[in-house]
Amino acid sequence: MPKHELILLKNMMTPGYTGSLKDYEKTGGYQALKKVVGKVQPADVTQLVMKSGLRGRGGAGFPTGVKWNFLPKDYKGPKYLCCNADESEPGTFKDRQLMERDPHQVLEGIAIAAYAIGAESSYIYIRGEFVLGAHILDKAVAEAQQAGYLGKNVLGSGANIQIYVHRGAGAYICGEETALLESLEGKRGLPRVKPPFPATSGLYGKPTVVNNVETLANLPHIVNRGPEWFAAIGSAPKSTGTRIFCVSGHVKNPGNYEVPMGITLRELIFEHAGGMRSDKKLKAIIPGGASAPFLTEQHLDVKLDFESVAQAGSMLGSGGVTVMEEGTSMVWAALRLMEFFFHESCGKCSPCREGSSWLTQTVRRILAKRGRMEDIETLKQLCQNIAGRTICAFGDAEVAPIMSTLQYWRHEYEELIREAEAHREKELPMAAARH
Ligand SMILES: Cc1cc2nc3c(=O)[nH]c(=O)nc-3n(C[C@H](O)[C@H](O)[C@H](O)COP(=O)(O)O)c2cc1C
Ligand code: SF4
Repeated sequence: MPKHELILLKNMMTPGYTGSLKDYEKTGGYQALKKVVGKVQPADVTQLVMKSGLRGRGGAGFPTGVKWNFLPKDYKGPKYLCCNADESEPGTFKDRQLMERDPHQVLEGIAIAAYAIGAESSYIYIRGEFVLGAHILDKAVAEAQQAGYLGKNVLGSGANIQIYVHRGAGAYICGEETALLESLEGKRGLPRVKPPFPATSGLYGKPTVVNNVETLANLPHIVNRGPEWFAAIGSAPKSTGTRIFCVSGHVKNPGNYEVPMGITLRELIFEHAGGMRSDKKLKAIIPGGASAPFLTEQHLDVKLDFESVAQAGSMLGSGGVTVMEEGTSMVWAALRLMEFFFHESCGKCSPCREGSSWLTQTVRRILAKRGRMEDIETLKQLCQNIAGRTICAFGDAEVAPIMSTLQYWRHEYEELIREAEAHREKELPMAAARH
């Protein structure tokens, strides 16, 4: 049993809970929407969310209410809300669980956000591979519509809140918010050059908010129990509420764990996830999805909040915590991640398009024991020429595995290169003798 109160995962952990509208209503579902729609001014809902301190759970941790407040106030045309359900970050699998097991919690969150920003149409952009999730959401939207929680004149308030489920086609980059918008518009999913930001020019050039599934799922609870209640959970004042951490890798009990922000990595890995799967020691941790730099066993007492993880040199990101044991080759681990980024680079900007290929080839060569000592400097220079020089944050993400493995496990690269050098020294005289 978890020792902390569950908020987002609570319903689905109750035996017999199916996620149907009936079950959701029995737990107090849609009471928050009833409380606000037509009764509280939309701007006051935004204020409430700002007061709660809720920050985005999609990766960057941007304050949710502040983002909503960026929308132009006097704008009369259509505005849009997009729920980012792309969840392609390796090691991240929480949004999928939220959508499949408690879809109405997500829909109620979307409806509250849509009301607050004045969006009559909202889209759930769901990762193409989540066929089951899309089916469940479609069914839940129809149920909520029939019950009057969605559609025209919601609960007799005069507000129109329509939700559409849109399936992606399996590109990681479509989780980047502007690529998501391009894809929703029916174009190839390539990130846009910013500014303008979606708040002023988003979907179809209209003011738009993009929020993550988990971010939105928090809203019914913030409305029902108050912003002060939410702000008191976690690490005040900047990392409030709980986080669902997706723990994977060499632990006994991989899975999703909802805990207050601010518990330590040690507590998450050794108390919640059952510790290491064998008697091998912990070697490396990715604390926030593949885009987050590696940490080491020295960081086990780092608190899982936005600031502490950033101070330790990584990021809380998407909440995907991957644990690796002693004996894992960190050059191999870096290559696995690099191959993913190389495959998923959209190719719109040259530092990322070309750099991801060079980085992959160079690490591949080192791992195949064909590297040279100068390759390490080449890797570093490549990373420096990618980070901060690309259209989207993918550039910063793809250098994270290389830079952080070089920082903590440079000796592993060097050992492989020394083996390559020794091999060359042995082979060359023999080759010369043959000629
Ligand atoms: C390459 C890349 C992939 C991303 N993938 C996702 C994703 O799958 N899901 C998500 O919510 N955010 C993703 N993001 C972050 C989004 O761009 C955006 O910041 C987020 O959806 C905003 O929601 P939030 O404020 O609620 O976190 C990604 C960002 C980048 C750069
Ligand atoms: S950084 Fe990479 S993924 Fe992002 S726009 Fe440039 S090429 Fe595409």
